[in-house]
Amino acid sequence: MHFLPEDLDNYVIAHSEQEPELLQQLTRETYQKVLQPIMLSGPYQGRVLSMISKLVRPKSILELGTFTGYSTLCLAEGLKKNGALHTIDINEELVDFQRKYFDQSEFGKQIIQHTGSALDIIPKLNLTFDLVFIDADKPNYSNYFHLIIDKLNEGGIILSDNVLWHGKVVEPLDEKDKSTKAVLDYNTLLKNDERIETVLLPIRDGLTISRKK
Ligand SMILES: C[S@@+](CC[C@H](N)C(=O)[O-])C[C@H]1O[C@@H](n2cnc3c(N)ncnc32)[C@H](O)[C@@H]1O
Repeated sequence: MHFLPEDLDNYVIAHSEQEPELLQQLTRETYQKVLQPIMLSGPYQGRVLSMISKLVRPKSILELGTFTGYSTLCLAEGLKKNGALHTIDINEELVDFQRKYFDQSEFGKQIIQHTGSALDIIPKLNLTFDLVFIDADKPNYSNYFHLIIDKLNEGGIILSDNVLWHGKVVEPLDEKDKSTKAVLDYNTLLKNDERIETVLLPIRDGLTISRKK
């Protein structure tokens, strides 16, 4: 999704950090072997995630929706030396693919994979987090927020992806479209919850930053 005219968009990308070689390889293999490669965060959003993580310098990160590990590796770039990143995905077929790339990176030992529904796994994680990235199934975004908020440290950050949902958030709502309804409800929840402050950034498909007060 392009918010800027294409030439400006290209200019923005050309004047931002380049994607590391390992992530280029991961992207190529995802396109060759995995369904719906469009789900990858991609080079520009990936550099944004990396930059935010480097600014936060988290000791603990939680990611919901690993897919092939692209955003995991971007977020791991900001981890403190003794930090850990927990990433959850329901698709067990992707575990070996993810691990292959995690182990080629310098963060392999810091990344802990969890396989199953995030709704089941989050309550079992007896941990608190400095940075959370929500990028799993949209209908559960609000449920994820409620499960995470008490595990988020003061000053901690939640990043939520796809909050503009291909622009559907400003189109007339089809009541049968559960994902759009869920994203609309989620955006309202973030805006109104007094425990956090929130800014929605028009990056790619929309990326919201929420900071716990
Ligand atoms: C958009 S993709 C994630 C993309 C990845 N974060 C990236 O940027 O490369 C969404 C992922 O969420 C996973 N997912 C869907 N429902 C889930 C659930 N209930 N619990 C955990 N993961 C889920 C899917 O299997 C899929 O891999």
